[in-house]
Amino acid sequence: MKEALSKELAKATGLAEDLVLGMLSVPPGLEMGDLAFPCFRLGGNPNQAAIGLSKKITLPKGFSKVEVQGCYLNFFYDRAIFIQNLLSQLEKKGFGHGAHKKEKVMVEYSQPNTHKAFHIGHLRNAVLGSALVNIMRYAGYDVVASNYMGDIGNHVAKSLWYIDKFCKSLPNEKRGEWLASQYVKATKMIEEKPELKPEVDKVHKKLDAGDKPFIELWKKTRDWSLDDFNNIYNELGVKFDVVFFESQVADAGKEIAKRLVDKGLARLDEGSLLVDLKEFGLDVFLVLKSDGTPLYSTKDLELARRKFEEFKINRSIYVVGSEQELYFKQLFKTLELMGFKDAKNCFHLSYGLVQLESGKMSSRLGNIVTYQELRDKVMEKAHEEVEKRHADWPKQKSDEVAHEIGLAALKFSMLDKERKRVIIFDINEALSFEGESGPYLQYVYTRCRSIIKKSCVNEKSLKDANLNLLKEPEEFELARRMEALPDIIEETSATYKINSLPRYLLDLAQLFNQYYQKHKVVQEDVELMQARLALVKGVAEVMSIGLGLLGIKTVEEM
Ligand code: ARG
Repeated sequence: MKEALSKELAKATGLAEDLVLGMLSVPPGLEMGDLAFPCFRLGGNPNQAAIGLSKKITLPKGFSKVEVQGCYLNFFYDRAIFIQNLLSQLEKKGFGHGAHKKEKVMVEYSQPNTHKAFHIGHLRNAVLGSALVNIMRYAGYDVVASNYMGDIGNHVAKSLWYIDKFCKSLPNEKRGEWLASQYVKATKMIEEKPELKPEVDKVHKKLDAGDKPFIELWKKTRDWSLDDFNNIYNELGVKFDVVFFESQVADAGKEIAKRLVDKGLARLDEGSLLVDLKEFGLDVFLVLKSDGTPLYSTKDLELARRKFEEFKINRSIYVVGSEQELYFKQLFKTLELMGFKDAKNCFHLSYGLVQLESGKMSSRLGNIVTYQELRDKVMEKAHEEVEKRHADWPKQKSDEVAHEIGLAALKFSMLDKERKRVIIFDINEALSFEGESGPYLQYVYTRCRSIIKKSCVNEKSLKDANLNLLKEPEEFELARRMEALPDIIEETSATYKINSLPRYLLDLAQLFNQYYQKHKVVQEDVELMQARLALVKGVAEVMSIGLGLLGIKTVEEM
């Protein structure tokens, strides 16, 4: 409807349609109509221009009237037609899908390091990246979801050095966890006895040179971590189209780093290669270690090339914690100075740390809290909540529902905060059925569904409901909010403000609750009941689309 109106406005004003579309906004209150057009840019007195335009314009179908208010033209929808359109679009599925866009975008996310634990910061990353992939796909982008695992580097050398030196036997179970704890022990030991550091460097060199026994140990242990990561991804329902490994880009990265010297960009400094970025306020950027082993940065030089050349992408998004902000500025600047023309199409999507309320949970693995620990705690609590409410349910049913509620709690609490904000995870808040949480939205969904069920009306018949009967302002307001979903999806893909979608869903839930409290849905007037049920069904659908994009599944009862 916005587009139809822009067409007419463009005709009447002589402005470009795109421009007009961008100028239309949703006024703050229903009494000011549904779309407002400012007349400041039309030349002359804006109020006069508005009056003139209101006489000239042909109202497109679906609008009931236009009013002049000061310098604005306020357009009003024909409410019945509006709700009719909305619900029939929802009926057709694909509601909110953006038109196909030409841009191919790679979203790199998750990127855990093998030989180390998958912690709750990695959880935020995985949930955030996966939601962004879903949302951008829905908006019509061609998205490649990628992962980039840190399977080599100093942390691996340290772990393998320690295992080789101190561990008499390797474990047969919980291997990933065991591995992560060896890393913690190794780190502690090196801190206490820095004189052992050269031994680690030696192992790093051996690995880099392809030393057989170490490579074998590396491959074996690396698989243990990868198995664990895959289990986590399966549980979270997180998927990748391509998985890069640091080990695959190390050699080519070294060549690129060396060529920077010929280009006069890098210089040798006590054996290591560095790019001086001081004139850009970015300090110096090390690109190769003095013993020739690759650094984190060395590998990223090649990874960037691969992404653009092999996948023909137009834009590359790196979902990485905010502690690497300077690093990515340095990396992108170096790429730009190298003449890598897509440097400007690289974007660091940064996010804040995740912490627990202090003292609530302690980790055996250094000072981090692992995914597994948090997940187990949340699942346990989700089970309690379900059992409290449904002691009579068969075990399998409670298990399934508790699992989805637990995941919803974890995921939603990672998504509804501003990206850069630190998250202080509070288990009670995350699992609250009444507060601003994933389970709360799942509950609103089940509520809508159960209203329909309890009414005993044939659900299929709802599509023939007489929507002209929906005359309450709350009904129209609810419908207008539902209709905003596609805009939220578009906006989120453009701004990466992922928390807009969770906030939108909370808002929708609130409008629904207000409506439901004020107006009887299930009632004697069958025709009116059907119309209201049709609307409620639509709310459930919008909720399920939105939650789905956040990676949250709905349940039928909870
Ligand atoms: N594995 C890295 C880490 O844990 C993150 C990788 C981010 N991506 C990149 N292209 N550098 O710090």
